[in-house]
Amino acid sequence: MIKKCLFPAAGYGTRFLPATKSMPKEMMPVVNKPLIEYGVEEAISAGMEGMCIVTGRGKHTLMDHFDKNYELEHQIEGTNKEVLLDDIRRLIDSARYTYIRQREMKGLGHAILTGRELVGDEPFAVVLADDLCVNPEGDGVLEQMVDLYKQFRCSIVAVQEVPKSETHKYGVIAGDTIRDDLFRITDMVEKPAPGTEPSNLAIIGRYILTPDIFELIEQTEPGKGGEIQITDALMKQAEKGCVIAYKFKGKRFDCGSVEGYMEATNYCFQHMYLKDKNVELKQEVTVKEEAQTA
Ligand code: UTP
Repeated sequence: MIKKCLFPAAGYGTRFLPATKSMPKEMMPVVNKPLIEYGVEEAISAGMEGMCIVTGRGKHTLMDHFDKNYELEHQIEGTNKEVLLDDIRRLIDSARYTYIRQREMKGLGHAILTGRELVGDEPFAVVLADDLCVNPEGDGVLEQMVDLYKQFRCSIVAVQEVPKSETHKYGVIAGDTIRDDLFRITDMVEKPAPGTEPSNLAIIGRYILTPDIFELIEQTEPGKGGEIQITDALMKQAEKGCVIAYKFKGKRFDCGSVEGYMEATNYCFQHMYLKDKNVELKQEVTVKEEAQTA
């Protein structure tokens, strides 16, 4: 139903300088995988097959990552290191990757509009890869949102409760409660000044957008920080009752900040990397035991 996922990845990543001076933020590794790979995995798990990536100057490593590297593959062919490429090979084979460059960094809304040619006239997902989302208990966040789209057929934004002292960093919503975790948005404020936030529900980097959003962005004047804000365009959809906010199940790490990135690294190392390693070790032991008893 939702077949394409847009990854705005043209930003400068200034909060992570100097690491991001010549390296895209989306290529920073959390344990042994770059951030964007987690986002692509999430989109593929949600049934998407078109990955539309908005890049900028100096971001060619993003394209290289989702392509074959013949020299490397030849070098490790037949060695025990080959398995380390299994995951990324699977991702390359399971989706189509298209790219477009945002020439001027005029904000997230503008980056999404730049992706229009890749997305076309259909509903689509948006992943901000520096927001790393995991849900070890069940479906990924995008998959949860696709299920909701089937029901509501309108734009959906993922929200998270944040302390009031943090609301000034986010787009913050107000809405009518549909159920404990669902709201029909009535108001949205981008980076509210302390004390003016309409709630403590902050929009994070997962969206499903209906394609009328493109024209609404075109009509949107630069807002907070002189940037074209996606929240301003979404507010026009919300005025018609067409934006749902969803308090997702799972964890989200703000990997655009050093603190969030470190938390994500520790979490993924403990709960994903080591867990997979233990499974591999157990499998190895079982194979050896079986070989001994045979
Ligand atoms: P952020 O504001 O979090 O990213 O934008 P940034 O600008 O790269 O980071 P800082 O604040 O300077 O540290 C949210 C997302 O939108 C993309 C970014 O790449 C990020 O994924 N973006 C933002 C664009 O693609 N183009 C833009 O003009 C702005």
